[in-house]
Amino acid sequence: MSPRHSAASGNPWALPAGSARPRRLRTTPAMRRLVAETRLNPADLVLPMFVKEGIDAPVPLQSMPGVEQHTLDSLVKAAREAVDAGVGGLMIFGVPAQRDETGSGATDPDGILNIALRRLRDELGDDTVLMSDLCLDEFTSHGHCGVLDSQGRVDNDATLQRYAEMAIAHAEAGVHLVGPSGMMDGQVGVIRRALDEAGHTDVGILAYAVKYASAAYGPFREAVESALDGDRRTYQQDSANRTDALRELRLDLAEGADLVMVKPALPYLDILRDVREVSDVPVAAYQVSGEMAMIEAAGANGWIDRDAMVLESLTSIKRAGAQIILTYYATEVARHLQGA
Ligand code: PBG
Repeated sequence: MSPRHSAASGNPWALPAGSARPRRLRTTPAMRRLVAETRLNPADLVLPMFVKEGIDAPVPLQSMPGVEQHTLDSLVKAAREAVDAGVGGLMIFGVPAQRDETGSGATDPDGILNIALRRLRDELGDDTVLMSDLCLDEFTSHGHCGVLDSQGRVDNDATLQRYAEMAIAHAEAGVHLVGPSGMMDGQVGVIRRALDEAGHTDVGILAYAVKYASAAYGPFREAVESALDGDRRTYQQDSANRTDALRELRLDLAEGADLVMVKPALPYLDILRDVREVSDVPVAAYQVSGEMAMIEAAGANGWIDRDAMVLESLTSIKRAGAQIILTYYATEVARHLQGA
């Protein structure tokens, strides 16, 4: 085969000999694989799971295809499948049968989340990292992440007391990491002190350090049957602001966060990069329910290639700076990565 000389082709626009041709590194799948800077690993992925009290069979969620509200038994089975696929951790959300003003089911040792955590820790031991959503919204009749004062406003410091109690309940149930997601001021520090004073110095805190008030939580609220009327803008961050995220991050690091999270993920990749640059603890990001719903809806219509979009979204989140990604696709993607 003779070498191809573009100059000899008669094309007056041909690049001169010795020109840079970045496309050379994209020529074959093997070449692209060799030079890829970002690789997803099953161990990076954390699977969020929902467990509902008082149901006999799992309930599929309309707005989150493939995701279900689990029974205790189906939760354990799906958790085992995730662990077998190499998924790095599990984040558990409880859906109680009854709710009240103070979210008492959250701290009841026989509340659904605490029962589920105990079951999972019994069944899985230390084979995975077991995490819990530490928040009151799934348990309150008004659907807010905290308790309300006499005027119906979320009472920060009264809520902290409930979070401290919840952290201890989760620790006693066997959780490895609690995930405070309520965005109350001072929550990480209070939870750290409560855990330490109760002797749970090994239980860590995955702080939702940066959590924006987002339209992308819509399907999640179906998943936990949230009763929320209104919004969470008095405690979750405003999407217009970047500086506020760094302030929240610094506070959580100073208060003792073991890992920090940014949420949602894809619409906030700039924030994720900022956090990665400043944080001296591992950084996670949460690909939330609405991010999934957008991929699924567009995929179902044939408007995008769903499988490619799933991988592209996760790769982008990792490239932006997330070492760990919470995603409803965790088991599916882990299996794909393992070639199963
Ligand atoms: C609060 C919590 C929410 C999510 C995780 N933890 C909902 C909210 O803040 O309104 C959303 C997760 C998702 O949308 O996938 N307990």
